[in-house]
Amino acid sequence: MAKLPILHFPDPRLRTKAKPVNTVDDSIRQLIKDMFETMYDAPGIGLAATQVNHHIRLVVMDITEDKSQPLVFINPKVTPLTEDKAPYEEGCLSVPTVYDMVDRPTRVRVEALNELGEAFSLEADGLLAVCIQHELDHLDGKLFVDYLSSLKRQRIKSKLQKLQKQQA
Ligand code: NI
Repeated sequence: MAKLPILHFPDPRLRTKAKPVNTVDDSIRQLIKDMFETMYDAPGIGLAATQVNHHIRLVVMDITEDKSQPLVFINPKVTPLTEDKAPYEEGCLSVPTVYDMVDRPTRVRVEALNELGEAFSLEADGLLAVCIQHELDHLDGKLFVDYLSSLKRQRIKSKLQKLQKQQA
């Protein structure tokens, strides 16, 4: 297993539209293992392949505190099950130190393949619904800061660029 470097906003590679996974093979399963290690170590509750510079439609997630419910979504499709939206404070491993409110549908259904290439679907609400929508956005090159005002986004960009310079 290996920890993978995470891309940080405003890295343009985070804007890449990810391609579908054709075959769920051992190289994909190795990437899944590495992504879980990276996510748990960060620590975070979700990680899209895009964030570790692999531009394929793959997301890993675990919203529990004791790492007991690892979820893998390959080629996921999400459908809102309600028109109700609610605000939730989101953060992102690619936008460190920044948290802000985003409105999203409160219940969704997601269809995907698991790490064995088997199709499954699940319905989610609460934090899981938020996390699924946030992570799937990454696969289309979208970040939670895109839901904020352009003024806020500009401030976040300056803050992170400053932070990245200090760490360089
Ligand atoms: Ni994120």
